[in-house]
Amino acid sequence: MPQQQEEGRVRRVRRATLWLLPWVVTGGLEITLAPSLAQDAIDASEKGIQRYRQMLKADPWSNPAMLDVDRGEALWKTPRGPKAVSLDGCDLGKGPGVVKGAFAELPRYFTDADRVMDAEARIVWCMEKLQGFERAALLKNPYPGGGRATKDIGALATYVAYESNGQKLMPTLDHPKEKEALALGEALFFRRGGPMDFACATCHADQGKRIRLQGLPPLSKPVEARKVVGEWPAYRVSSNHVMTMEHRIYDCFWQMRMPEVDLGSEVPVALTMYLVKTAEGGEINAPGLKR
Ligand code: HEC
Repeated sequence: MPQQQEEGRVRRVRRATLWLLPWVVTGGLEITLAPSLAQDAIDASEKGIQRYRQMLKADPWSNPAMLDVDRGEALWKTPRGPKAVSLDGCDLGKGPGVVKGAFAELPRYFTDADRVMDAEARIVWCMEKLQGFERAALLKNPYPGGGRATKDIGALATYVAYESNGQKLMPTLDHPKEKEALALGEALFFRRGGPMDFACATCHADQGKRIRLQGLPPLSKPVEARKVVGEWPAYRVSSNHVMTMEHRIYDCFWQMRMPEVDLGSEVPVALTMYLVKTAEGGEINAPGLKR
């Protein structure tokens, strides 16, 4: 091998070693850290995060999601779409135009659509049927990328949820199709699949699980589910926008490397039904605030 080439190779190896150095050092640290010290570090950062959340919660107007509540309300009340009508004729389950309290009983069965719908599915239905928007266009890229504003459907869902604030999650479950949705949601929550062989339950059924610093709430346990389910839609600080429950579920499916689920389709509605039923009686405190 010519000397120049040989020297180049040595330099490259040295550079690679330098890059590896921090990894070797931190790897060493992990081994020398006593388990109790590691636990202390986790507890300290968890406390820091809790304090940060409390500070943001102490002043509800510090939650940027309130802007989406306002935007959603304006979108609801403004004549829009090819038919130039507002959503005042939209029936969320309590009669046309009644928004207050409607979210607390969603998802529910709707006779006109002959299916169970959550807030977002129903909003899409009303935008299509009342305002004349094209369904395919509404369902194309329905979620914002990181740092981008929540789309109209998300803002509308945030407004609708906000109008049930303080009420308890009370799915009615009178109709056979509502019971079917619940059974499907429960099955989906526990069924493993996809290339990683994950179920929702892999990450969300046991106490004390975490990914890096993120605690994973056990959503199959009523006490835990009641704490978080009523907080959606929520402003997610790390991605700078409001995420609806369907967006959250979509993202978790992505983490599982499962096929994409369409907004408002049977699967996210059924999972939402399962989550809401598990969290039944929990207070709606939306929009919430997430890390
Ligand atoms: C690989 C682990 C993993 C799987 C599997 C998973 N999730 Fe998640 N989930 C997460 C993480 C991580 C977060 C928190 C994200 C964050 O803090 O930004 C989360 C958050 C959530 C939340 C919000 C909880 C809160 O604090 O308010 C819900 C609801 C949720 N997931 C539902 C689901 C459902 C339904 C499924 C199955 C379709 C699922 N997840 C599958 C990792 C997972």
